[in-house]
Order: sequence, then structure tokens, then C-alpha cells
Amino acid sequence: MLLDKRKIGNTSLRVDSLGFGCASVGNLYRMLSDQDACDVLNQAWEKGFRHFDTAPHYGQGLSERRVGDMLRSRGESDYVLSTKVGRILKPAGYAKERHGFRSTMPFDIEYDYSYDGVMRSFEHSLQRLGLDRIDILYMHDIGSVTHGDAHELLFDQAMTGGYKAMDELRQQGVIKAIGLGVNEYQVCEQALEHGDWDCFLLAGRYTLLEQEALHSFLPKCEQRNCSIIIGGPYNSGILATGTRKVSEPYYNYAPAPQNIINKVAKIEAVCDEFGLPIAAAALQFPLAHPCVASVIPGVGKAKMIQSTLDLFNADIPAEFWQSLILQGLISDSSPIPKAK
Ligand SMILES: NC(=O)c1ccc[n+]([C@@H]2O[C@H](COP(=O)([O-])OP(=O)(O)OC[C@H]3O[C@@H](n4cnc5c(N)ncnc54)[C@H](OP(=O)(O)O)[C@@H]3O)[C@@H](O)[C@H]2O)c1
Repeated sequence: MLLDKRKIGNTSLRVDSLGFGCASVGNLYRMLSDQDACDVLNQAWEKGFRHFDTAPHYGQGLSERRVGDMLRSRGESDYVLSTKVGRILKPAGYAKERHGFRSTMPFDIEYDYSYDGVMRSFEHSLQRLGLDRIDILYMHDIGSVTHGDAHELLFDQAMTGGYKAMDELRQQGVIKAIGLGVNEYQVCEQALEHGDWDCFLLAGRYTLLEQEALHSFLPKCEQRNCSIIIGGPYNSGILATGTRKVSEPYYNYAPAPQNIINKVAKIEAVCDEFGLPIAAAALQFPLAHPCVASVIPGVGKAKMIQSTLDLFNADIPAEFWQSLILQGLISDSSPIPKAK
């Protein structure tokens, strides 16, 4: 299957508009055997996925190892791989569940957004991946949601030392693009004042469920030709499962609060009228925005790869989006996808 390719910022890099988010193969929420992880990654490759996003954080190195093994085994270079910096893995002497990752890797995480920390993290990633190249490097989870009171200090470190390291790697041609990988658009907006970023991986904050980023952040990205890659397009679950078929729908990595369940239920009612799965609308909606280069859902089962492609390619009539706008369920300033 051929996916359309979109350019990243002012770089020469082009990514598929549908990518594969590799937190799942870092054992997010549940243990995946090596065989199951290998199956889902191979199935993704065989069905045509060529844009993969991973991070040291995803299973404390497990996701990078698994993705690297799959890519190396293919012996082809025609893919785009992103990983992240900002967390150094330190030997812990034991494995335990950390931040929802049920990984068996015996490492703890230490935040480090300094020049040396970024360079070290980049080298460690290449070695865990067993690959000689990374295409996009994101500064991971800088922002007050992750760091609370320590945010200001770490942000200063990141925008000086960390940025300098990333910019140097880009200027040397070692990587092709740099950005932030975060769950809050506000910190991306702040970062725009400090550096020349090619793209932002924004998770959960420009989706079928929430469009606050439309007001000031996305227009600034448009002005600067900075691309957006949409992580967590299902808002970590609820926009894929809906509210009815699961006992506990997930939103933002936790059981969804009632106000979110109520809003998603209203969107589902419109989907029912048009005979559409909500997940199809969730995958297609963000790509209508001119800044958005790609959506990268998390898929943890090989059998769901084909259904993800079917959702991505489903025909959605313009009347569906108009109906969501008329009912106030998406912003009336949202660009809406063209009918196929
Ligand atoms: N700060 C950052 O940089 C950041 C933050 C978040 C995410 N991301 C990126 O975005 C990627 C995706 O995010 P995510 O995995 O957190 O959230 P997501 O894509 O919004 O949702 C993933 C969840 O949806 C479920 N799902 C997927 N397709 C489904 C379907 N067709 N039917 C029912 N359920 C379905 C998955 O279940 P199964 O696992 O059972 O398949 C998983 O529980 C990550 O892997 C990562 O690459 C980056």
C-alpha cells in the first residue's frame, strides 16, 4: 500500500501521512511477548508502514530494541525513523512497571536535557536500535505536565544546551529534522521563541476531541512552516474503542472522566448516523490541517494493522464533518478532510 508523503517543515524529509507509534511494543499497558511484538512490527512493514516513532522511554529501551531489530532485518533503507532525547537510561538492577510500561528492561530514567545529555542519549539510541541512522530527533516530554515545578529550570537547559546539540546534529547532516515530542502544545509555542524547529510531535492535543491548538499555536506553526505529527490520535484509546464496547475507556493514559465520555458518546451518535467507526474519523480528522504531516496511532496487535489501514482509507462524506460542526462537537474553524 502506498501512503501519501508530506514534507517536514523546510527540510527535504518526507514522511508517510500514516505512521506507526511504537510505545505499544515497549509494553505500554500490557506485556507483549517478543514474538507478538515482532509480529505486529513485521505486519506493519509488510502492509506498507514506513514511518516509525519510538523513544528510550518506551519500555526503558525495549521499544527501540524491537523496532531496530525489525528494521535491520529488512535490510532496506526506505523508511523514516524518529526517536527522542531527554531521558538517559540508568542501570537499576531490577525491572518493574514504570509509567505504565510493563517492560522487563532493568533501567531507571534520569531526565537530562543538557548538551552532553542529548549527545549521550542519541548515541545510546543508535546502539540500542542497532542502526546507523535516526531521521528525526524529538526532545521528549519537556513541559510542566511532566516536570511540574522543575519545568522552568529544565526548559532553560533544554533550550540552550539541548537545542544546541540537536541543531549541531542537524547541521552536520547526522539527523534530518528536530522537534519536540510532547503532550502539551503550550510548550511547543514557547519553544518556537527559542529555536528553529522543523516539527513537533504533539500527542492528544489536536484530535477529533480537542482543537484548542487551533487558536494561536497552529497558526504560528503555519507562519514558520513547522510541521505537526499527531501522536495519540485516539487520545490514548477512547477515540478508537468508543464508549460502549469497553468497560473503561481510556483518555490521556487513564480511565476517561465523565465529561470526556459524554462528549465522545455524542460524536459516536453522529458516527452511527453515517455508519462510520469513530476511529476512522479520529485518524482522518487531524490530517486536514495544512500543518499536519502525519498521524501515528498506537497499535499493539498484528491483526489490527489491516483494520487501521481500512479506517485510514474509509470514505467519510463532507456532511459528516458538517454535522459535527453544527452540533458544536468540533470547532467551526477546524479544516475538514475532503471527501475521497
Ligand atoms: N510525548 C510524546 O512524544 C508522545 C506521547 C504520546 C504518544 N506519542 C506517540 O504516539 C503514538 C500513539 O500514541 P498512544 O499509543 O499513546 O495512543 P493512541 O494511538 O491514541 O491510542 C492507542 C490505544 O488505542 C488502541 N487502539 C488502536 N487501534 C484500535 C482499534 N482499531 N480499535 C480499538 N482500539 C484501538 C490501542 O490498543 P492496542 O494496544 O490493544 O492495540 C491503544 O490502547 C505512540 O506510540 C508514540 O509514538 C508520543
